[in-house]
Amino acid sequence: MSIKVIGTGAYVPEKIVTNDDLKKLIDTSDEWIRQRVGIEERRISTEETAAEFAVKASMQALEDSGISAGELDLIIAASISSETVCPTVAGFVQKEIGASCPAFDVNSACSGFLFALDTAVSYIARGEYKNILVIGSERLSKIVDWSDRSTCVIFGDGAGACIVSKGDGYLASNLYTKGDDGVISIPAYGGSSPFYTGVHKAPYIFMDGQETFKFAVNKIVSDIKLITEKAGLTLDDIAYIVPHQANVRIIDFASKRLGIPKDKFFVNIQKYGNTSSASVPIALDELARSGKLKSGDILALTAFGGGLSSAVCLLKW
Ligand code: ACO
Repeated sequence: MSIKVIGTGAYVPEKIVTNDDLKKLIDTSDEWIRQRVGIEERRISTEETAAEFAVKASMQALEDSGISAGELDLIIAASISSETVCPTVAGFVQKEIGASCPAFDVNSACSGFLFALDTAVSYIARGEYKNILVIGSERLSKIVDWSDRSTCVIFGDGAGACIVSKGDGYLASNLYTKGDDGVISIPAYGGSSPFYTGVHKAPYIFMDGQETFKFAVNKIVSDIKLITEKAGLTLDDIAYIVPHQANVRIIDFASKRLGIPKDKFFVNIQKYGNTSSASVPIALDELARSGKLKSGDILALTAFGGGLSSAVCLLKW
């Protein structure tokens, strides 16, 4: 048993921060950010939390699906930037939308939404659950070091969500983890125990940009080839690729190496930056609402990030 996506939703906070706005904080330029990363602006929260974004994206996904909160059997949220460890983002959403089903969070950094989606597919395959809400929501502005120009220009805030139900639309998937903090790490709050020794790292995103870049390009290429082969399809069968929006040059390299034209890659990084686990569901929602998708289209959803991790799946729309 597999799944189909029956509704999507997204939410980004109102405040737009342009590249020129960032020039007031750090030594950078609009030209450098556009050319090296492809971002023109990002949305940054002033007050709202990742859990609150998640509620708004989820309500839109529910409306799109035509089902009510009471019909949800499970809620799974991916986040690395929630204000609270508990209640979880999923638990907060459950209360706010008026659902009563179980709810929990998963964390696999920028690949988190696709790990959560794959988990949802497994629950549906068990036959107990019919409708599952899957969310990626991030307030990365909380865990960015705003004095570090190599990271703070990249990230943005927002949430995306989708509702999946029984169907035949999940053709194949692959998850990957290489437990390693040498390339990307985000230390959590270090605690204040009087018995601890050693120094805690600040709770901000640390990233070796160039190593992440190489990992990302290699993984997108190998993951998409692998998944297509697993499903018994060819690259030509893919109508759209919905990649994690981390750097437009990563997408350009992947397009060339795969021999898949760039216009098959859905790109909205210029508006939102890298929203980690929220980036794939925000892009999926935008693509779905664009009216470009036809029933039966094959979509490849692909993400990579901290962990190190990557995840990919093929969806039949
Ligand atoms: N503005 C101006 N100059 C800058 C900036 C900036 N914001 N940031 C770095 N530079 C400078 C550097 O200091 C360096 O200058 P130097 O040559 O005088 O030393 C120069 O630009 C080149 O720096 P690089 O680090 O080589 O720049 P690069 O082209 O690799 O771009 C970037 C950096 C954007 C981080 C890129 O490596 C990248 O996109 N990596 C992948 C990021 C990613 O995918 N992250 C997703 C995972 S995150 C997660 O999972 C939470």
